[in-house]
Order: sequence, then structure tokens, then C-alpha cells
Amino acid sequence: MEQAIEAEDRVLCRLEDIPEGGAKGFPGPPGSFVGLFAVRKDGRVHVYVNACPHIGLPLEPLPDRFLDTRKQVIICSAHGARFRIEDGVCVTGPCIGEALEAVPVRLVDGQVVVPASAGL
Ligand code: FES
Repeated sequence: MEQAIEAEDRVLCRLEDIPEGGAKGFPGPPGSFVGLFAVRKDGRVHVYVNACPHIGLPLEPLPDRFLDTRKQVIICSAHGARFRIEDGVCVTGPCIGEALEAVPVRLVDGQVVVPASAGL
């Protein structure tokens, strides 16, 4: 069955707006102070709430700078926590064993779609 974009969905961007092996940040939904970010790796897109489980700060030091220089892990610029791209689990740093809040994501006609409530 063909997937469709529903009223409760939010289109973040087109898939090609996120470079393979790269990341991109997005503002939160209206009424939220917390943004989202997406990482594209190995043909998949992973979306997380942009709040570190350590003390809730946004992760990136500069726009779209969510990954380490080798683009192997997500890194929090505040205190250096590192998270697996695949599941958001912290593997080193002050919140080791905790995880970023994952957002369900779908690809619909080349668009990256999440629930409109993600980040609220
Ligand atoms: S806020 Fe992310 S490591 Fe401290």
C-alpha cells in the first residue's frame, strides 16, 4: 500500500537534503524549545530529539555539526558524550548507558517524515 503524508505528520526535508554520512538539525514543532536532528548512514535515516540525556542541552556546537570528525558517532559538544548513530545509546561520557530520544521516521516519496508532535 502506498504510504501517504497525514495531518499528524511533519515533513522535515527531502532525503537528498541530508548528505549520506552526514547530519542536519531542525527546529522543534511550534511550542517546543527542543529541536530535532537527523543522521543519514548506510541508506537509513535516524532522527533524534536534540537534547542530551546528560543535562538536556542541545548537542551541536555549530549548525548541523552533530557527528565526530570521522562521522562514526554522534557527539555532544557540552561534555563530550558520544552516542551510537544506530540507536542513540551513549557509549562514552557522563551519560553512558542512557540514550537520545529516538523519533520514528518514515520516507514518503523521498521526503523525511516524522510525527508532528516529535520534540513536544
Ligand atoms: S550535556 Fe551532553 S554531555 Fe553534558
